[in-house]
Amino acid sequence: MRVLVIGSGAREHALVLAASHDPAVTALGCAPGNAGTAAFAETLGVDLTLPSAIAELAVSWRADLVVIGPEVPLVGGAADAVRAAGVPCFGPGADAARIEGSKSFAKEVMASAGVPTARSEVVDNPAHLDAALARFGPTWVVKDDGLAAGKGVVVTEDVERARKHALMLLDGGHPVVLESFLDGPEASLFCLVDGRTVVPLLPAQDFKRVGDGDTGPNTGGMGAYAPLPWSPPELVDEVVSTIVRPVVDELDRRGVPFSGLLYAGLALTSEGPRVIEFNCRFGDPETQVVLPLLRTPIAGLLHATATGTLAEHPPLEWSDEAAVTVVIAADGYPGKPRTGDVITGGEDEGVLHAGTRRRDDGAVVSSGGRVLSVVGVGEDLTAAREEAYARVSRVNLTGAHYRTDIAARAAAGHLAVPAR
Ligand code: AMP
Ligand code: GLY
Repeated sequence: MRVLVIGSGAREHALVLAASHDPAVTALGCAPGNAGTAAFAETLGVDLTLPSAIAELAVSWRADLVVIGPEVPLVGGAADAVRAAGVPCFGPGADAARIEGSKSFAKEVMASAGVPTARSEVVDNPAHLDAALARFGPTWVVKDDGLAAGKGVVVTEDVERARKHALMLLDGGHPVVLESFLDGPEASLFCLVDGRTVVPLLPAQDFKRVGDGDTGPNTGGMGAYAPLPWSPPELVDEVVSTIVRPVVDELDRRGVPFSGLLYAGLALTSEGPRVIEFNCRFGDPETQVVLPLLRTPIAGLLHATATGTLAEHPPLEWSDEAAVTVVIAADGYPGKPRTGDVITGGEDEGVLHAGTRRRDDGAVVSSGGRVLSVVGVGEDLTAAREEAYARVSRVNLTGAHYRTDIAARAAAGHLAVPAR
């Protein structure tokens, strides 16, 4: 099978790496890729904002399966274009990708499907903002209604800060979503969905804030681990039956069946799991910890998802180990990152590349905010953390920063789902 992965982050590096271990894969391509994916996959050029360019590449490269990583091409209709060109594609069409691309659409689908989530209101007129803010908080949650790469959300106990963020978004022409605050540990559950059949992967947890102890602004994700030793064994079944399955059925009923990966971002509250958000694709950095634990060959699995045959696919097999990933970010991230610095010490299968590129002189240099996603796998979270941080300590990148507490509380047994 010739597999073409679209994207250029550590998520795509993890996908390419997993596919490289699948004996059914005869050729791997990655577009646009990065310095890390280039070791396993042919690097191909493509403009991610042009669905037709992605479809043309799929045809000219003779792909048997296209796997689209990021949300931007999915929301823009890349999967529709690839399928229209006759190539199986892993990822939802633009209509179903709205579950991520529009928070108000997601809320409306959840309401129809009876899925538990935060109470919310959309504000599109600054004159209505103060009255709306008064109906929420303390602890205000203010979101950009559209795609914002994980950075459009402010969670704050300061109503002035909430107001300022909302006005900034409204000034930029973006409708704002206000939400009630959900308390409890967060979990990410990835589910493969082929329109109807739902196959959950292992649950994971990511770390959205930039600083240790969950301080500082939200980012695209600073680290993750899987599985969740503190979560009850029935969590996955409960989330599938009360959240994922009803949403998949609702989308199907509306004539926009979801095909690809439906990512439920959850708060595990004292009232049960509640949806924080849906994403229409593999999460980054959770993918970097879920895929190393998957024993089932990935290409056949994603192909079955793309072709509507998941129901016939054998049950998934998992390693009983744990995985941790620590993101190394560039100076300045999540603001404007410093780029162009040489990276050394990253030549290791556990070091996945995100914002990197190879310079003409052969040096690998930083080219984005999240630069590397360093993975450790071990018999438990403590061992996986040790391996990940040992790898991190060997990497050199001027001005880089990373969190030192990824998976620390879970490894120490300090996390629990609140009692119901
Ligand atoms: P989102 O972009 O919707 O995933 O939000 C980013 C992060 O903000 C989430 O991972 C949560 O940590 C936090 N967050 C978002 N919505 C809520 C909410 N309703 N209650 C509490 N925290 C939230
Ligand atoms: N890990 C968060 C995301 O992928 O959006």
